[in-house]
Amino acid sequence: MDKIIIRGGQQLSGSVRISGSKNSALPILAATLLTKECCVIQRVPDLSDVHYMLQILAHLGAEVERASGTVTVQAERVNTVAPYEIVRKMRASVCVLGPLLGREREATVSLPGGCVIGDRPIDLHLRGFAGLGAAVRVHAGNVKVFAPELHGTSISLKGKSGTTVLGTDNVMMAAVLAEGITVIEDAAREPEVVDLANFLQKMGAKIEGAGTSRIVIEGVKELHGAEHEVIPDRIEAGTFLIAGAIAGKAVTVNRVRADHLTAVTDALRDCGSILNGSNGTLSICANGDRKPLDLKTQPYPGFPTDMQAQMCALLSTVAGESSVTETIFPQRFMHVSELKRMGAAIELDGSTARIRGVGGLSGAPVMASDLRASAALVLAGLIADGMTEINRVYHIDRGYEMIDEKLIDLGAQIERVKV
Ligand code: EPZ
Repeated sequence: MDKIIIRGGQQLSGSVRISGSKNSALPILAATLLTKECCVIQRVPDLSDVHYMLQILAHLGAEVERASGTVTVQAERVNTVAPYEIVRKMRASVCVLGPLLGREREATVSLPGGCVIGDRPIDLHLRGFAGLGAAVRVHAGNVKVFAPELHGTSISLKGKSGTTVLGTDNVMMAAVLAEGITVIEDAAREPEVVDLANFLQKMGAKIEGAGTSRIVIEGVKELHGAEHEVIPDRIEAGTFLIAGAIAGKAVTVNRVRADHLTAVTDALRDCGSILNGSNGTLSICANGDRKPLDLKTQPYPGFPTDMQAQMCALLSTVAGESSVTETIFPQRFMHVSELKRMGAAIELDGSTARIRGVGGLSGAPVMASDLRASAALVLAGLIADGMTEINRVYHIDRGYEMIDEKLIDLGAQIERVKV
């Protein structure tokens, strides 16, 4: 088990290359199960979550090869049971349900367990499968979906906290091989959903409206192999932009889709940073006049919940009163108590963090609890006085490829230590 040690106070400058998107690569890799033919996916980030997905594909019978950022998958034959041992390591494993149901008309996957960021049911996924005509059985910790036939239908994926990203992906992947037309209302509009739809279309699927809240899918008999490059990771890019805002002179992120980050760059401009960008590059520099902010997370194109913790770290150092309201995962504030250990002045009021900016943070031993919370602790450590020691960094390796090396290239004093 590694830990990361950061000596704060270094001014960051330079450029960083953004990796492929974790939240796009995972459902796209699952979608390769929809065909017997070979699929080649490029720009797949080297992350533990990706390893888990490749393990699941191999367990389901697919031939899987990986050569640096390119993954080749051929699922000539598949079995339809994804066991607890693998699924428990990663919730996103649930997105093999749709492809298996679509292709084999049945699938059994262990129900995902609890999650520190909050309640994460899959009722909307199951509602979608039932709408296509599948029977759904939950028994002994497993969910089994099966249907002699799948028929297109109209389904709303609106839940108590809005729509669902992986639910939209899962229903889309089942519907592409269903008989007739499926209309998904209240669909998620995230760029990762669009990237999956683009890959499915390359495989021969008929999909319209991805990126809007209404997706129309005309089922086809079968799909063929395809090649696809995963989009850049907008959350990794956003995290490095905040590193630039919190501890930077001038930081540039390369290989990024600025149009996927508008809510984040708008928020950073509102709290005083200067941002410029074109052709896949975004640069940020602080202009010394930072302003507090009131922020609310929302489904895309709103401010992403996966950037909320990192923003709390930044606003902890911005003079004045800020507030951050979490609407997607109302309890997603595990980072707050650790930031307070570093001297941040944050009070939780229901699903709102009320932040009073302090003059400085101090380094301390802290505990990572989940992927984005650990990113927030790294950002706080960059500006803190003295040494910050982050434990359980396996959380960060789930979603950030070589984060310590990339920060060192920007001038940070950071090292990874084996415990
Ligand atoms: C995806 O999770 C991302 N994960 C999450 O990123 C991200 O936080 C989330 O979308 C929201 O943007 C991947 O793409 C692998 P949801 P997902 O279903 O699809 C409720 C990260 O840090 N809900 O859109 O699982 C749910 O409880 C991760 O990279 C239901 O009620 O999230 C939540 O409140 C963390 N019923 C809301 O909807 C359902 O059936 C949104 O969840 C499904 C979800």
